[in-house]
Amino acid sequence: MRVWQLVKTGGPDVLSLDDVADPEPGPGQVSVRVGAIGINYAEVLSRKGLYGWAPRRPYVPGMEAAGVIDAVGDGVDPGRVGEEVLSGMKFGAYAERVVVPAARALPALPGYSLEECAAYGVNFMTAWVSLTEMARLRPHDRVGITAAAGGVGTAAVQIASAYGCRVVAMAGSDEKLARVRPLGAHATVNYRVPDFPRRLREAAPGGGLDVVLEVVGGEVFRGCVASLDNFGRVVVAGYAELDYSWWNPWSWWTAWRDAPRLSVTKAAEGSIGLLATHIGYLLPDEQRLLDIWGALTAFTEEHDLRPVVGRTFAFEELPDAHRFMESRRSVGKLVVRVE
Ligand SMILES: NC(=O)c1ccc[n+]([C@@H]2O[C@H](COP(=O)([O-])OP(=O)(O)OC[C@H]3O[C@@H](n4cnc5c(N)ncnc54)[C@H](OP(=O)(O)O)[C@@H]3O)[C@@H](O)[C@H]2O)c1
Repeated sequence: MRVWQLVKTGGPDVLSLDDVADPEPGPGQVSVRVGAIGINYAEVLSRKGLYGWAPRRPYVPGMEAAGVIDAVGDGVDPGRVGEEVLSGMKFGAYAERVVVPAARALPALPGYSLEECAAYGVNFMTAWVSLTEMARLRPHDRVGITAAAGGVGTAAVQIASAYGCRVVAMAGSDEKLARVRPLGAHATVNYRVPDFPRRLREAAPGGGLDVVLEVVGGEVFRGCVASLDNFGRVVVAGYAELDYSWWNPWSWWTAWRDAPRLSVTKAAEGSIGLLATHIGYLLPDEQRLLDIWGALTAFTEEHDLRPVVGRTFAFEELPDAHRFMESRRSVGKLVVRVE
């Protein structure tokens, strides 16, 4: 089978298309013939060598795929062969076949295409965990979402809106904001314009936000904290602006300066809280994650939510998907099709 491997860090061209032996499922595992792969910003950071959660190279990147079970290992119901599933993993999804524990091969959502399945898991789970488990979202909360036109962002806007919250979507261009409005945003703010914090406070109903899901860092993070009302909580799930090079000491300083942080003094002055989450570190807490997944998929079906698949690429074009995500022009989830 073919896989994309990461042998060294760098630009999209360092991804290497290689032939490797097909993996065989061991006891308790299933093999999945992949139909679609979801591309995540974390994989862009890993490729650049900026992601602490990445394994040692060389490895096959990729955190989620959807496809059809084509073989099962000992102890797994053979009746599962032919089942459409999606699965999240630490790495290994940039492949024509993946082998995963049977319990992590989750049933495809009813009525979803394989592309939509590959676009759903990481983004919706991140948004759901951030908003409901971390921020303890309540209906009528005023919720700000950064990078709202992206994969996690479009999921978060839909979830918060379906929850009954007032949603203020933030993104880096007016074109992106126009794409987010129909998903349930009540107000939008471009954070690449001067005086962003004032504009955000003005857009927030009543002059302040109760919850922010923040994934950008730097000025955007600081502006969001400044817009919190009393008892507000900001959940940090990413730091997309992170960029540094070992050879450039100035970049160490900017990376440190722009990392999201909040002092206890500042938190006490506003009665606000900083929370952070990374769903990858939750993977060992398997039963808890499966319970949360059950709640998320039930909510998704009840409110008829769907991931926004912004653009699809052929398997051979996978580096172009990285290029497009880095360009900041992408909207929704980027998905790679595997024929
Ligand atoms: N904690 C978790 O478990 C978890 C899980 C999944 C994803 N995440 C995080 O969530 C965020 C969104 O991930 P995603 O996969 O859905 O990606 P995405 O939002 O589809 O794409 C990344 C977006 O980040 C924004 N951005 C800000 N600064 C950027 C920069 N310097 N370079 C490129 N993009 C920049 C861009 O939107 P604008 O142009 O609108 O700013 C861009 O479209 C990322 O920070 C990711 O690491 C966290």
